[in-house]
Formats: sequence, C-alpha cells, structure tokens
Amino acid sequence: MSQSHSSPVPQAKPATILVFDSGVGGLSVAREIQQRLPAHPLIYASDNAFFPYGTKGEDELITRVDKVIGELLLRYQAEILVIACNTASTLTLPHLRAKLDLPIVGVVPAIKPAAQLTKSGVIGLLATPATVARPYTHELIREYAPQCDVISLGSSELVEIAEQKLRGENIDRAALATIAVKLMQADKTKTMDVLVLACTHFPLLREELAQQLPSELKLIDSGEAIARRVEFLLTSHNKLPASDDPRPLHRAVFTKHTPQAQALGPALAGFGIQHLDYLEI
Ligand code: DGL
Repeated sequence: MSQSHSSPVPQAKPATILVFDSGVGGLSVAREIQQRLPAHPLIYASDNAFFPYGTKGEDELITRVDKVIGELLLRYQAEILVIACNTASTLTLPHLRAKLDLPIVGVVPAIKPAAQLTKSGVIGLLATPATVARPYTHELIREYAPQCDVISLGSSELVEIAEQKLRGENIDRAALATIAVKLMQADKTKTMDVLVLACTHFPLLREELAQQLPSELKLIDSGEAIARRVEFLLTSHNKLPASDDPRPLHRAVFTKHTPQAQALGPALAGFGIQHLDYLEI
C-alpha cells in the first residue's frame, strides 16, 4: 500500500516524555498522557529537594527549574518535556523555551474552559499561593474570562495533603473541610458553578474535595488538554510509534533521596512506574 507524503513516518521507538513537577502533582498529568499515549515511556521527575514550589520566590524558582531541567536532560534522553506544574509553568516557560531545543508543554490554569463552561459567570480558582498571585494568571483571566467573577484561593496545605495521600498516610479531612468552607464563603452570591483545580496536585484529591463541596460544582483541570497537546506535538514532529508497545518502561527520578520519596513506591507502581532513580541536585 502506498503512503501519502503528508502522513507522519512512524518511528521505530516511541518517543520518551519527560514529565516534571515539584512533587507528585504531575502524576495527575502523567495519568492523562498514559491514557492517550500508552506506548510512550515516561520519565517522571520530582524536584522533591526544592518542594514546595508554591511558596518560593520568583528568581530562586526560575534559577532552580533551569538547573534541574538542564541536569535531567543531560542524564535522560527525552524527546518532549512537560512542565506538569502550574506554579513553574506560569513563571519559567519563556526561560526554558529560550534555552532548550525540544518541544515543551506547560500546564497553566484552565481559565478558558472554565469561562466556556460556567453558566453563572462565577468561577473558583484553587491553586498554590504563587500561582494565584502570578501576573500570568491575571492575564489569563483578563483575556479569557473578562466577563466572569473569579474567586481565587491559594493553598499550600492542599499540596501537602496530596503528597501525604500518595505516601499512603491518612488524609486530614478536617483541613480539607476548612479549605472548602473558606472557598465557598468567598462566593458571596453562592453561584460559583465551576472550580478550576490549578495545581496539578489537586486532581489527586478530586474525590476528597468533591465530598466537601456542593455537588453541582464542576471541578476541572488541564490534564486532558495537556495530553492532547503532547499527542499533537509528537504527531507533528513525526514521533508517534509505529505500533502500540503494550509495556513501555516508565521511571521516576527524585532530586533527593528521602524516606518520603521512598514511601511513594506503591503509589508510583499504581501509575505503572516500577523504576526509581535518585539524582541529587
Ligand atoms: N504541583 C504544582 C502546581 O501545579 C506545585 C506544588 C508546589 O510545589 O507548591 O502548581
């Protein structure tokens, strides 16, 4: 059978996707990528040595992310990079794109889909304190949701709770309830109908959060859109696999060897990640 010149020439080996976050949050994005692109090996990188990002200053975070990504790309061969962290993406993408010669996908708050979905015009934005404060986030709101009321809440505690959950520790449901009350209290008109989970850690707590929030509130995040974007970029760079390899090798790498990182073994296995590396940075 002849092949059209415009169709992508499949590669023999599926491209490796490097997924990066400060901690376990990027796993919520990795999961979407695995569902859409099951043949591609993932390297899941957690900068646990510098966790959490949401409380860090802008200059120190730009320097740190530059350094860690540089070291990761020296150690691992990856064809595409996903910054699976809103806190890092809303700050560091221009720096990374100026320096690196591979396709980069960033995760930013799902303001645009939220504005399309809301009927009441009141949107919630749950993110890290840094993401809530970023000019980039304010710009997204101005551009895509100028007609909406956006109620923002920054929480680092929720990030911590997601980490605890994946380590198999008990979830502090009272703390979750307090955060939910705080968010809903800010909604003076009581009409918020869409909540943007604008930190990749938060979809890992979707069920627990939903239990504390009004049942009609829709919780949305950027994970699926990111997976679609990765697929699009791999297709346009001719990097989709020739056939579906049923069992690609996924690995995780941490920037610091800690008991907490080790405790994530079973959760990582649940994401199909069997190999654990440490790259002290
Ligand atoms: N998962 C990250 C995000 O999407 C940040 C968590 C943190 O380190 O504060 O914003």
